Amino acid sequence: MSNTIRILMCPPDHYDVDYVINPWMEGNIHKSSKDRAVEQWQNLHNAIKDHAIVELVAPAKGSPDMVFTANAGLVLGDKAVVSRFYHPERQGEEPYFKAWFEGNGFTVYELPKDLPFEGAGDALFDREGRWLWAGYGFRSELDSHPYLAEWLDTEVVSLRLIDERFYHLDTCFCPLSGGYLLYYPPAFDAYSNQIIEMRVPEEKRIIIDEPDAVNFACNSVNINSVVVMNKTSVELKQRLEKVGFTVVQTTLSEFLKAGGAAKCLTLRVNEPIREEVHANVSVESRVIHLEGHLLDAGIMNQALDLIVEIGGSFRVLNFNLGIERQSVSNADVRVSAPSHQIMEDIMTQLIELGALSKTEEILNAKTETVTMAGVSPDDFYVTTIYPTEVRVNDQWVKVQGQRMDGAIVVDPTTLTADCKLLRDLRVGEQVVVDVEGIRTTRKVESRDKRGTQEFSFMGAGVSSERRVELVVEQIAWELRKIKEQKGKVIVTAGPVVIHTGGGQHLSHLIRAGYVHGLLGGNAIAVHDMEQNLMGTSLGVDMKKGIPVRGGHRHHLKVINTIRRFGSIKNAVEAGYLTKGVMYECVKQNIPFSLAGSIRDDGPLPDTQMDLIKAQQDYASILEGTDMILMLSSMLHSIGVGNMTPAGIKMVCVDINPAVVTKLSDRGSVESVGVVTDVGLFLSLLIQQLDKLNSAVSLTV
Ligand code: ARG
Repeated sequence: MSNTIRILMCPPDHYDVDYVINPWMEGNIHKSSKDRAVEQWQNLHNAIKDHAIVELVAPAKGSPDMVFTANAGLVLGDKAVVSRFYHPERQGEEPYFKAWFEGNGFTVYELPKDLPFEGAGDALFDREGRWLWAGYGFRSELDSHPYLAEWLDTEVVSLRLIDERFYHLDTCFCPLSGGYLLYYPPAFDAYSNQIIEMRVPEEKRIIIDEPDAVNFACNSVNINSVVVMNKTSVELKQRLEKVGFTVVQTTLSEFLKAGGAAKCLTLRVNEPIREEVHANVSVESRVIHLEGHLLDAGIMNQALDLIVEIGGSFRVLNFNLGIERQSVSNADVRVSAPSHQIMEDIMTQLIELGALSKTEEILNAKTETVTMAGVSPDDFYVTTIYPTEVRVNDQWVKVQGQRMDGAIVVDPTTLTADCKLLRDLRVGEQVVVDVEGIRTTRKVESRDKRGTQEFSFMGAGVSSERRVELVVEQIAWELRKIKEQKGKVIVTAGPVVIHTGGGQHLSHLIRAGYVHGLLGGNAIAVHDMEQNLMGTSLGVDMKKGIPVRGGHRHHLKVINTIRRFGSIKNAVEAGYLTKGVMYECVKQNIPFSLAGSIRDDGPLPDTQMDLIKAQQDYASILEGTDMILMLSSMLHSIGVGNMTPAGIKMVCVDINPAVVTKLSDRGSVESVGVVTDVGLFLSLLIQQLDKLNSAVSLTV
């Protein structure tokens, strides 16, 4: 027995479940028995008295949860950080606890008014005194942790809680003497679990299962080798005994109705200081600025959600809602993260949403030098499809050649910045690293524009069959407009276009001057020519829809013949190939690029088997494009998407909704997905164009 440990409790004179501020309280309002509560509390008091000195704070009327003294504050030596309750329901307790700390000789520290921190309920010292485990996610704010570190001069390890049943750290986590840790891992996010595992060796981790967790087994009072708790399974009891603990069970069912048990009802008020332990916080904070149609475009939700999902926390410092329909909103948000790595992950995604880091003076982008050709310094900023600017010599410089998945190379002497693929990096080049001094602009889509005849496509969405015709109408209208304005339309197409009978329609589009470049692979060309030379597509008769005897050899024969000609163009010029998609490309002088792959038969002489070369060809054909039609070719379309900056209209057609979603999910409204048979889509498109052009007759 040790009399040196002092524990603060509060008699349950006014205890009841009067409101709901955690899931345990739901359905329990005024359902607890006063007499039983008093008896259970008394039993706990007795159990603790056997091992420690119990001190009492006077209960206050109107503060039913004051029995949970763990939430009074956090104590170390003669310092006490008094709690700032998250819920107004408990804020009335603050002055009572503060008075008690002051009256008992503690130096009291108070957090800023709007910064919640719920005391020892969310902050538990490692029993060896090496550091403080601090929880956040429900009640306490991550931003309170640096204050704890500074005031108590201790290292703070932040852990994020993710299960609302375990809203306070002490409901699912209990450091025990000897470096043991009793805890319930599913209550924490992956990063926190990793931190716990790094700090506590496996043989010291006592992991509990859900049934024990919901009995609040982690909510234990540990006094030397004694562990006092509400209830434990036989198995857990044995595990604890095996490593030298004595388990004392004392029923606290009445308090469970309020979401608390043994540990919640106590506060250790003489935590010893370890001289060699000092402050060390890894919590990072920064303020970001967001501007645009933050609500309409869902940017605000996305930003706040991603901060929390990645493991940070936020506080909206101010939000100015655009008053008029057209006006933009802006917001300043303070973002906090438990480590530099997490802060960078969050910032990268926020930059993608158009956020700007709001430091007093805007810092120049950090760069590092390439020391190995084709390899970037680690930590490089990975580019997106959005127009990006980087800060060089105190000026914002626009990044040229914007595309996804590149690195940004800056030249401070010429004040230029270029998007470069890793493989193109040369020794000595300066690559932007970290997230400082980088901003992206998301086009502010005005409500007006979205509503008008402009290419609205009903926002970025995947259309169902019902809406296909409507979408096709808009695409036809847009194609015509681009043609009139002498714009550029590129098609990526897979062999399905031919198998579904879309070849004739695509040929038609090319012949009529709507297409200015074709991107595909070996297969589309092979099957297109097979159809036009032999009437089959992959051996299937295109008119009857049935396989032709020996048809599987057709496409190889075609490949062989074209190989003899030396190129598709030669075959056209020799009068051998007389119709079809490839024929029209040659005839209309439309550039095409066929990118090879491992499964290609032949390949055709035109197929580029050097993939780096093929990527370059694609990129050069795509330059200056206004619109891209992606027709049933996932691989080529994804490749194209990566090379294309935001702002270019994209239409992705595929029978598989998953493919369409994947392709059209670029977070910009200019892309639209159409889930339908591509042959049908093309035939509808031709019909629509015909309607629009009834004056100009299109002959097939
Ligand atoms: N009803 C109280 C609340 O929701 C219970 C507090 C339990 N205390 C604790 N340290 N887990 O705030």
